[in-house]
Amino acid sequence: MVGELGLGCMGMTGAYGSPADWDEAASIEVIRRAMDLGVTMIDTAELYGPWVNEKLVGKAIAGRRDEVTIATKTGLVSVDPELGLNHVDCRPMHIKLAVDASLYRLGVDVIDLYYLHRPDPTVPIAESVGAMAELVQAGKVRHIGVSEYSVQQLEQAVAVHPIVAVQSEMSLWTRDALAGVLPWCEANDAAFVPFSPLGRGFLTGTVATTFDARDMRSRHPRFQPEARDANDLIVARIRTVAERLGASPAQVAIAWTLAQGAQVIPIPGTKRLKYLEENLAAADLVLSADDLAELDDLPEAVGHRSNMPQFLGAR
Ligand SMILES: NC(=O)c1ccc[n+]([C@@H]2O[C@H](COP(=O)([O-])OP(=O)(O)OC[C@H]3O[C@@H](n4cnc5c(N)ncnc54)[C@H](OP(=O)(O)O)[C@@H]3O)[C@@H](O)[C@H]2O)c1
Repeated sequence: MVGELGLGCMGMTGAYGSPADWDEAASIEVIRRAMDLGVTMIDTAELYGPWVNEKLVGKAIAGRRDEVTIATKTGLVSVDPELGLNHVDCRPMHIKLAVDASLYRLGVDVIDLYYLHRPDPTVPIAESVGAMAELVQAGKVRHIGVSEYSVQQLEQAVAVHPIVAVQSEMSLWTRDALAGVLPWCEANDAAFVPFSPLGRGFLTGTVATTFDARDMRSRHPRFQPEARDANDLIVARIRTVAERLGASPAQVAIAWTLAQGAQVIPIPGTKRLKYLEENLAAADLVLSADDLAELDDLPEAVGHRSNMPQFLGAR
């Protein structure tokens, strides 16, 4: 059992912005404030940083470990963080080594929720999930999740071990999960954890027009100038709904994800206290049937959601 919203920590050690934005002390404060405000799921991964994100989370939860569900991921491995290059490795050998490293960096005895970050096209799902199941038996992991799995891949996974959470991108401009994965979660009693519920910041209407080369959005098709010009229409229409409700666009975007089902637990990411507090208040924003219909009617985004091959096959 976790709170209605979790906290995504990826942006605290890279991914968005530039090194000047990545402030460990400020991020630790954000995580601790989130815990004060009732957030119980903290989302990280070996990939983030790489590695330093788990260390940061470990420092933030020190002394308060029992208050939180730690969710981390294995199987997406950094090749070069500055270039944003990574590759999928869900071989049992990697998983078995990676878990011990994550436990060490997080400073915990057990990982509450351990995700396979991506399906690995070179390894049978039964082998990867089988290796994860051995970690549960060994007491290193409590529950298994997967990220960016199709319904077919989910079926293969649950044939080996229960899957308690499925993470995939879902937001007002990425709705693929609604067609298959989300109903699968409902039918199989799994949580659906939408990542990038704010469209990597775009849906808030506050994203800069130029990015540092290390900011992954500098490479994402949706953030290229021509696509942005078209996608600005989505933000304008979200803003109209937000103004009518006396809310912010970020709150509308998060409330829309929450409205997609009781099994949905979004994990908006931020490294700023003011955004954290704004985002958590979205749990109290009720969207009417008319609001939802207006948001469901938003135009499709122009441009693919990622430039990485690991995303291109996901639905
Ligand atoms: N499984 C996967 O493959 C996968 C992929 C991506 C992400 N994730 C997880 O999902 C989490 C959330 O996704 P995300 O971080 O990619 O994207 P997101 O939550 O959609 O957006 C994060 C961006 O929005 C900005 N932001 C947050 N709240 C805001 C507000 N109220 N107003 C204006 N801007 C705001 C943040 O800025 P600041 O950083 O400046 O606060 C950051 O740039 C990640 O942290 C990570 O844990 C998982």
